[in-house]
Amino acid sequence: MAATILDGKSIAMQIRMEVAEGVLRLRETTGVVACLAAVLVGEDPASQVYVRNKEIACHKAGIESRMFRLPASTTMEELLGLLDRLNQDDAIHGILVQLPLPRHLEERRVLDRVDSAKDVDAFSPENVGLISQGRPRFLPCTPHGVMQLLHRCGIDVAGKEVVVVGRSDIVGKPLVSMCLQKSGPWGDSNANATVTCAHSRTVDLASVTRRAEILMVAIGKARAITAEMVRPGAVVIDIGINREGDGICGDVDFDSVKEIASAITPVPGGIGPLTIAMLLQNTLAAAEFAASA
Ligand code: GUN
Repeated sequence: MAATILDGKSIAMQIRMEVAEGVLRLRETTGVVACLAAVLVGEDPASQVYVRNKEIACHKAGIESRMFRLPASTTMEELLGLLDRLNQDDAIHGILVQLPLPRHLEERRVLDRVDSAKDVDAFSPENVGLISQGRPRFLPCTPHGVMQLLHRCGIDVAGKEVVVVGRSDIVGKPLVSMCLQKSGPWGDSNANATVTCAHSRTVDLASVTRRAEILMVAIGKARAITAEMVRPGAVVIDIGINREGDGICGDVDFDSVKEIASAITPVPGGIGPLTIAMLLQNTLAAAEFAASA
C-alpha cells in the first residue's frame, strides 16, 4: 500500500497562524512588536530566495523584519560590527545570519558573535549546550520542524528505532539530540527514541537505514535513499533540498520509497515550509523573553 503523504505545508500554515496570534497578543498586552534581523552576505541565489521568503513570512505573521543585504566583499570587521549593533538594539529580538557565508568569512566566529538570547537559529555554543542538556531556550528551526510534523501527525518517536542520516550541526546532530532526550516539547512521547546517526563514513549504509522505524535523511544528495534501503512500513522524513533544473528534489527517491514506507514527506511541501514556521515561532519566543525580562 502506498504511503501516507505528510503534508508539511498545511501544518506550517497552522503554526504560522498560531504565531500570528501570539505576535498580536504580545503587542496588545505589552506593546512589544516582535522583530527579526536577517543578515545576508553576497549574492548566492538560493540564499536570496530563502531570505526573501523569511521576510514575507515575517510580514504575514505581523513580525517586523529588518533585512541587511551586504556585498560579498564585506570584511569580518564590518560583519562583526553590524552584529554588535544588532545585539545592542533592544528593538531587535531575533538575529539570523544566512548561511553559507562567502568563503573569506569565518562562519564559526560570525555565528559566535550573535547574542545567545537573540540566536533564533539556535547555533550558538550556549544554545547547542542547552539543547544537549534537555533544557532548550530555542530549538533549531529545521529539526524542530521535523518534530512538530511528527507530533501533529500523531507519530511518536518514543521507544522507536530512529536513524538519522547526516551529522551536520544544523540538522543531523540536533535531531539526534532531540530524539534522545527524556522529554521534548510535548512531554515524553516525542523523545526517548533509540537513535543511530549514520554519515558519510558509515560502512554499509543500507543495513543501518533498514533498521529504522523512523528514517530522517539530511545529507544533501539527490535521491540517495532508495526503496531497498528502507524498512517496509517505516516513516521517512526527507530533509534534503537539492536543485534540479527549475525545481527541487529531496535526498529520498520519493517515487520508489513511497511504495514501501507507511508515511513520507514530499519535497517540496514537506519539511521546508516548517523551517520558516519555526523561525517565526523562535522570533516570537525571543520577543516574549525580552518583554518579560
Ligand atoms: N542556510 C541553510 N539553512 C539555514 C538555516 O537554518 N539557518 C540559516 N541561518 N542559514 C541557513
